[in-house]
Amino acid sequence: AGGDEEDGDPRDFVGKMKRAGKRCVVFYGTQTGTAEEYSIRLAKEAKSRYGLSSLVCDPEEYDFNNLDQVPDDCCIFFVMATYGEGDPTDNAEQFWEFIMDENVQFSQGGDSLENLNYVIFGLGNRTYEHFNGVGRKLDAKLQALGAHRIGTLGEGDDDKALEEDYLEWKDPMWDEFSKRMNVEEGGAGDVADFVVTEVTPDMKKVYHGELSSRALLASTSGASTPVGSYNSKNPYASPVLTTRELFAVDGERNCVHIEFDLTGSGLTYQHGDHVGVWPSNPDLEVERIFTVLGLLEKRGTVVDIVSLDPALAKVPFPTPATYEAIFRHYIDIAATASRQTIAFLARYAPNEQAKEKLTRWGNDKDAYHDEVDGPRLTLAEVLMAAAGDKLNPPFDNVTRWEIPFDRIVSTVPRLQPRYYSISSSSKLYPSAVHVTAVVLKYASTQSKVHDNNSRWVYGLSTNFIHHVMQASRSGTPNGIANGNGQAHFGGLAGADGSIRLDGLAPTYKISGPRDFHFKDNIYRVPVHIRRSTFRLPTSPKVPIIMIGPGTGVAPFRGFVQERVALARKAREKAGADAANALESWAPIHLFYGCRREDEDFLYREEWPGYLKELDPVFKMHNAFSRGPNRKPDGSKIYVQDLIWDLRHELAPLILEKRAYIYICGDAKNMAKSVEDRLIRMLAEARGGTPEVEGAKELKVLKDRNRLMTDVWS
Ligand code: 2AM
Repeated sequence: AGGDEEDGDPRDFVGKMKRAGKRCVVFYGTQTGTAEEYSIRLAKEAKSRYGLSSLVCDPEEYDFNNLDQVPDDCCIFFVMATYGEGDPTDNAEQFWEFIMDENVQFSQGGDSLENLNYVIFGLGNRTYEHFNGVGRKLDAKLQALGAHRIGTLGEGDDDKALEEDYLEWKDPMWDEFSKRMNVEEGGAGDVADFVVTEVTPDMKKVYHGELSSRALLASTSGASTPVGSYNSKNPYASPVLTTRELFAVDGERNCVHIEFDLTGSGLTYQHGDHVGVWPSNPDLEVERIFTVLGLLEKRGTVVDIVSLDPALAKVPFPTPATYEAIFRHYIDIAATASRQTIAFLARYAPNEQAKEKLTRWGNDKDAYHDEVDGPRLTLAEVLMAAAGDKLNPPFDNVTRWEIPFDRIVSTVPRLQPRYYSISSSSKLYPSAVHVTAVVLKYASTQSKVHDNNSRWVYGLSTNFIHHVMQASRSGTPNGIANGNGQAHFGGLAGADGSIRLDGLAPTYKISGPRDFHFKDNIYRVPVHIRRSTFRLPTSPKVPIIMIGPGTGVAPFRGFVQERVALARKAREKAGADAANALESWAPIHLFYGCRREDEDFLYREEWPGYLKELDPVFKMHNAFSRGPNRKPDGSKIYVQDLIWDLRHELAPLILEKRAYIYICGDAKNMAKSVEDRLIRMLAEARGGTPEVEGAKELKVLKDRNRLMTDVWS
């Protein structure tokens, strides 16, 4: 390890591999880090099973013309995510263009990969049409070039059971791998990736989480901030400008509007882009993990972490850092614990009973599903439940687990930013990004292992935002105006320690180690911008049809604002003829849906203004699913029903006037039903069947990027 970076062409992975004496290279095509995580796991397993160490590589950093020179006792792994409409991730694009080229040629002049052994695992989402398109196409291409695949084409469904898909795929693959590579089980076993040392460094160099990034410290201390250097690896700690509740129903369902200030950050955005929000872990979860690991007295201790094999495992967060920062800001302890992590940690169980439980959850898919995944137990909760401790405060006599901290770093993934469709237009709000989010909260299934109760499960990032909102309003970091914030844990503990379903929302620490509680109650949230292709046509002469029920309307508020800005300009230019300024504009249709007009209608007070400014081209069609109006058969009215009603107007816009269609929101049900309805509409207009003519028209729209989706599940 190490040292090999200096010699040879840095883009030549075969040379690098040979110099470092490795037989495996794992390439990952990743957008949010998941594929990279799986790559690292594969590399680690090659090591622990067979003693083979690997290089884990970002394809962006290498050339692939020497794929034909990989020795035949070596193996290349591809862990590739599919993104959007069957596209490779940004970091795999170069590789994709090279390998998918019809006339691809390798360094020895040929187009044969006969010597190449490869393993492939694709990550996708079955709710998208092009499920695992990248994995499938790459596999077909490598086969066509004569390469030898080890194992089956792995296909992970991010929507359902990515982890299960992976676990089921990998063991048969490793069996074949050992035969082909001529290696035997009995590798290094449980090997350390990192060396952790407690240090007393210069305090200025210690990391305390994104909120105290050095750039932020620089910006708040008046020094100049490096402009334009904020990205997916280095978020900008953005002041929260405005927050308000768009609706709150029965204290259960609520939706927040929040505005982040980008002034002076060098960050820019366009309508349709996404903002990545970097949440922190809630207080209760941090408390739990410190308690089970026996680290309560060490919160402020600073540790330095060094990788033993940087190619295999990078230190996943900046160090030196305090334990507090690591558990609160850098690693994901609030997610449901994974089966792999649980199985691994069984060896550190404090007693037989706990070991037995972890082993069972780790190895028995059904037991894991019923007892861990269903009730959504976090890592600390799993450890507590396995040892028979109660999950909620007060935490007295909790069994302590002696898990080496470096194993925690190796097994618990890094906390990832969550993405939201930006709901503003940069033409109207050049330096503010608006987010519209439903605060996620749902009841888990019953926890059979523990207390037989269901519990509230709180979405990490939306509750973090909600907390910031309440704090900004009340002027106290714990977000509680009446000062009783101390007892404010993720749920009210019943007498038996169970969580009752009326628990309070989680609290988060949102002020940094210095004074981040700025004047006028402005708090900061780390954010970055992710570009998207979800964009309006430049010309207003192209008709647009937007479909976005619920928070799916978020980007369309931005789209409409974008057109409002354009209309203002057009009117200014038209001068005396301002009244007819939009004469040449094509229709703008927005289909929106919510439960009730007077309950959860997002931005209800804003639309009349937009309608007026965009008169007469803009039409908004609202489906209130739980209002008084019903279909003749008594069923609910949804956006797709309004589309159907208007089909004689919409079909010609699409087929003759080349309208652009946008769908945003729930992927599983809504987007599917809407597409089905579009297919039927287009079939009717063409005088054919949905299966043939309808499906064909829809495909044409997608291929030409005239039907675009921004959907989530
Ligand atoms: P519902 O909750 O009354 O069923 C935003 O969530 C809106 O989308 C709500 O009015 C919701 O209605 C509606 N909705 C639910 N399922 C839908 C589907 N399959 N297609 C379109 N709209 C749907």
